[in-house]
Amino acid sequence: MARIHVVVGSLRRDSFNRKLAEGLVKLGPPGCDFSFAEIGDLPLYNQDDDDNPAEAVKRLKGEIKAADGVLFVTPEYNRSVPGVLKNAIDHASRPYGQSAWKDKPAGVIGASIGAIGSALAQQHLRHMLAYLDMPTLGQPEAFIHVKDGLFDDDGGIGKDSREFLQGWMDAYVAWVKKHSGKA
Ligand code: FNR
Repeated sequence: MARIHVVVGSLRRDSFNRKLAEGLVKLGPPGCDFSFAEIGDLPLYNQDDDDNPAEAVKRLKGEIKAADGVLFVTPEYNRSVPGVLKNAIDHASRPYGQSAWKDKPAGVIGASIGAIGSALAQQHLRHMLAYLDMPTLGQPEAFIHVKDGLFDDDGGIGKDSREFLQGWMDAYVAWVKKHSGKA
């Protein structure tokens, strides 16, 4: 069983990216188990707290360490990732030498109401994940432009996008299994 932890870069109640993440989980092939990270209660990262991390920080790091893979689903804010996501990444990367992210196979996907579908946020995120030593699925890429019909009435992926996103999920889960030794 491959355990995949999902990190959504939006705290918004009606977030399209959270809906996308929930829709992707429904497309998860057999043999994987998904959980969602809570990043909204993390304090702002302050290096002074490295020796005495908040409970929320310890929880996040424990969840990441226990996972076989991490799926990032993020909006784009001002042509980069939202600050809440960067904050979570910084927290779980520290103290130096004790990063929870190292070697965890990652997937990067995101949705935007803008035409480029979070492409620049995803590119910035990939830059960080490379530094953090996370093997990250390169292909297929998925830049999701939010339009009517992206989601169905049951919270799943709408029919026009389902085949493409099923293929993306299958590739990502295969990537996790390959890089975590669960294949
Ligand atoms: C945005 N949005 C946005 N969209 C985009 O395609 N490129 C961008 O650079 C930005 N910048 C940006 C900054 C800020 C501060 C906000 C609040 C929004 C629009 C964004 O894609 C839209 O609000 C999405 O709905 C956000 O994702 P969630 O919260 O629906 O998951």
